[in-house]
Amino acid sequence: MPELNYPTADGVSSACILIADDDYINRELLANLFLDKKYHIIQAVDGPEAVQLTRKQQPDLVLLDIMMPGMDGYEVCALLRREFSDIPIILQSSLSSNEAEIKGLAAGAAGFISKPFDSRLILALVSAQLEIKRDRDLLRRQSGELAWANRKLKHELQERRHVEEELWAAKRETAVANQVKDGMIKDLFAAMCELLSNRDFYTFEHGMRVSSLSRHMGEVLGLDRRQLDALELGGMIHDISKVAIPDDVLLKPGIFDNQDREIMRLHPAMGAKIFSRRQCDPLITDIIHQHHERLDGSGYPQGLRGDNVSLLPRIVMVADTYEAIVARRPYKKPQKRQEALRLLRCEASCGRLDSKMVEVLAQVTENWNPLAASHFVSDKNTRALESFRRKTYFKEPLSDFYNYRYLFFLNSSGLLDIPDQGYTLCKISCCNLDEINEDEGYLKTDQILDDTGSKLHDVLEDAADCAEISCINILFRKGVTYLIYSNCPSSELKILLARLEQVLLELNREWRLRASLRQRHFAADYSMERALYELLADSKRID
Ligand SMILES: [Fe+2]
Ligand SMILES: [Fe+2]
Repeated sequence: MPELNYPTADGVSSACILIADDDYINRELLANLFLDKKYHIIQAVDGPEAVQLTRKQQPDLVLLDIMMPGMDGYEVCALLRREFSDIPIILQSSLSSNEAEIKGLAAGAAGFISKPFDSRLILALVSAQLEIKRDRDLLRRQSGELAWANRKLKHELQERRHVEEELWAAKRETAVANQVKDGMIKDLFAAMCELLSNRDFYTFEHGMRVSSLSRHMGEVLGLDRRQLDALELGGMIHDISKVAIPDDVLLKPGIFDNQDREIMRLHPAMGAKIFSRRQCDPLITDIIHQHHERLDGSGYPQGLRGDNVSLLPRIVMVADTYEAIVARRPYKKPQKRQEALRLLRCEASCGRLDSKMVEVLAQVTENWNPLAASHFVSDKNTRALESFRRKTYFKEPLSDFYNYRYLFFLNSSGLLDIPDQGYTLCKISCCNLDEINEDEGYLKTDQILDDTGSKLHDVLEDAADCAEISCINILFRKGVTYLIYSNCPSSELKILLARLEQVLLELNREWRLRASLRQRHFAADYSMERALYELLADSKRID
């Protein structure tokens, strides 16, 4: 569409008017009318030139004579109307009839002027049509600008949407990558714990339970995801550096002496040192380092006090203590939840544990027992390995006999099958080993001791093979004394004792060994410790 050259508010530009008339005088007459209007006037002498100039210069208004050679005004008007719908065309003619005017309007003319002209009418009509065109042009320009702004906005929106989509895609990718990374980290931690389980199953199980307990407590406390993850992973590995503790201490099924305790107390600092050197969340390192601290400063390794103990270790130390109380250990029986809570509350009232955390633990364990969880790695191999280690611990390395303390371990671990009718303990004492030692040397004495043990072992194996009722007979050694645990019924026991007496006679014939056999029967609920004490003190000889 032709843009308006027409007067703007500042009057700098002006409208272009085409006057088409074959009569020179008329053209000049009309042109003179607009002299003081600052219009730009162009002139055409016939219809074809009018069309040509319009196409070339696109005037803002056309004053068109009807009677012209070549093409009359109607034809030119109709043609220009089709090509330039926005240019107003005013027809002028000496044909002052309604028919001529109607025909002109039908051809698309905006107005009709009869000759001779009324100059005021022409000026008013031209001015009105130019106003209309200017407004129309303005509207079109504005709508064009609006359309352009809309297109621009749409484009910007598309761009922004595209950027947002890329951002979301990147975020999704990052989230997936993080998920994979988190999974890998958890897997690595779990793998480390599983390795630990092959070394010390109790510590492994303990870590897994402390992990679950701590995370549950963190959830009740409304902690954020990072803290919850740190509790889960930190709880899992808080004792991981126990892998560095020697077997003699780590697997010791008895009460620790001071030296054992000193060695065991190294594990928090050792673990923290390993993890602090790596890209591990400091929250996890704090858990490892501080889980044996106590709020009154009595803990280790740093003896931290009060607020110097971080939040997460406060949680883990409560979960850690609780698990240690309620779990079964080779050296202790498991305590009930209520008793554990009583002890923890006592610790809190003394200022060692955080009382708030103790109450959160009470809430968490009210309807959930962390010991009942069955997702721990406790396959046959792990259990067998654990069993083997325990046996190894209790086997005397040179004689290959179980130390008598293994009896206590088996009993406290619930591994001894004690029937309702009770159990029997036998003591076989070698009485004249000192004499033999003096006469024939300690190598001979050791040989006699080994031979004695070996023969006793064979008797027990034979008894197990021949027994009509399945029963257990286990041989232990305590220095130069042998002990036998038996859960055989009296009929089987009699046969066993008779065979043992026979072995002692053979040993006497072969080695000049004088050995005595003492045995006592105990009720099923009779304390093993007490029974052993009484047997060793008992001088009564049973034949
Ligand atoms: Fe620990
Ligand atoms: Fe622990």
